Amino acid sequence: MARIVELKHPLVQHHLATLRDRSTPPHLFRDQVRHLSLLLAYEASASLPLKSVTVETPLMSTECMELDCRLGLVPILRAGLGMSDAIQDLIPQSEVWHLGFYRDESTLQPVEYYQKFSDSPPEIAFIVDPMLATGGSACEGIDRIKKWGVANISLLCLIATPEGIEKVSETHPDIDIFTCAIDDRLNENAYILPGLGDAGDRIFNTL
Ligand code: PRP
Ligand code: URA
Repeated sequence: MARIVELKHPLVQHHLATLRDRSTPPHLFRDQVRHLSLLLAYEASASLPLKSVTVETPLMSTECMELDCRLGLVPILRAGLGMSDAIQDLIPQSEVWHLGFYRDESTLQPVEYYQKFSDSPPEIAFIVDPMLATGGSACEGIDRIKKWGVANISLLCLIATPEGIEKVSETHPDIDIFTCAIDDRLNENAYILPGLGDAGDRIFNTL
């Protein structure tokens, strides 16, 4: 069964309010995506493996810890880019590999248009996409990452629905889902309620 982690931190609640507000302009929207992505990544990275290293401080040698894994961030284009940029700043050695899906508005099915993976997959992958709506895009994305050869995968999203969580958990029970909020439901066009509207359009100012 997938592990579902919904962040309840006051800072998450605070930034979500601005993110959801229809009057928030794109530049502030991007700032909020960034803040929330960092908080999500902090939580999702809690069990990353570490190794011991010796560091020379200005005064003496000391044993410290540093990350001991190849971590791939996989944004689902377009909207996931706002999250992966922020997380790569927090974890500079992470690698960013891209997957492009758009949702066909009539069938609501994800349509793949881009994939940039290497021959050598990372050991751990965070798939990042602000919106987990029907769950179709996330399920397809996770499927691609598994076929690439990554066994340890977490999904990081800003807003999820119960429907999306159920679909991902049933299709991929081995992955962890980290989200800032679990919203009420989908509307008749599969938009999240209360949600925030179209994440990609709000990030890239293409409304
Ligand atoms: C949005 C969002 C997800 C997808 C979620 O992308 O960023 O990728 O919809 O919907 P689902 O869970 O029902 O599959 P969109 O298709 O709007 O593309 P964009 O990021 O290019 O705007
Ligand atoms: N994609 C979005 O950007 N917003 C939604 O509410 C659903 C899918």
